[in-house]
Amino acid sequence: MRKPIVAELLGLALWLVLALSVGAARAQPVAPANVGLGLPLERAQIERFAITIFPDGRSLPPGQGSVAQGAKLYQAQCAACHGAKGIEGPAARLAGSDGFIGWNDPLRVLRIRKYPLLVVSVGARWPYATTLFDYIRRAMPHHAPKSLSDDEVYAVTAHLLHLNDLVPSAAVMNREALPRVVMPGLDKTALDWPNIAP
Ligand code: HEC
Repeated sequence: MRKPIVAELLGLALWLVLALSVGAARAQPVAPANVGLGLPLERAQIERFAITIFPDGRSLPPGQGSVAQGAKLYQAQCAACHGAKGIEGPAARLAGSDGFIGWNDPLRVLRIRKYPLLVVSVGARWPYATTLFDYIRRAMPHHAPKSLSDDEVYAVTAHLLHLNDLVPSAAVMNREALPRVVMPGLDKTALDWPNIAP
């Protein structure tokens, strides 16, 4: 005898529900507790990479460097790309005000036409001297990043700050002095990272 159509439909629906629930169970395999990927890192290995200096100066290393030491280092390690006074280029301008026109540097317009990176400058744009240290330590000199010692980075940072008239020629930079330097770029900056502003 033929089953009534309602019974057949009910049977079909039951099968569908069963098939779907089995499929769903298959689609969510339980992850093993340990997939066996990666290597645990030693503390010393992590420290090599955890070199971020925060705006408030947190994580600045011990050591120090003077403007005078930095001036010598700068000529040997940086001037070839950034120019003897930090303004000539071809690489980014490190000293002076923003914009195309500089009354104390009338030829800037001509250089900027050749090297566009010369519009901005560390003295005009960087909000923190502390992160300038971070950048130089991890990225400069461009051809040999991380080759300078912490003392040398303090010294070239001091020299750049002096080129921008932000510290006197007798200044010595270290983890106490650097966070106290107030950069002109701070006013042009909004820090959307609570709890770490100096
Ligand atoms: C071989 C060329 C070269 C040398 C040498 C070099 N730099 Fe640079 N520097 C660059 C270039 C190129 C940039 C731009 C990098 C970028 O934007 O990715 C730069 C960028 C910078 C900036 C960031 C400028 C900004 O406003 O964005 C600083 C600061 C800086 N250099 C400092 C130094 C210091 C200090 C030294 C010496 C210890 C040095 N550089 C040596 C090529 C060089």
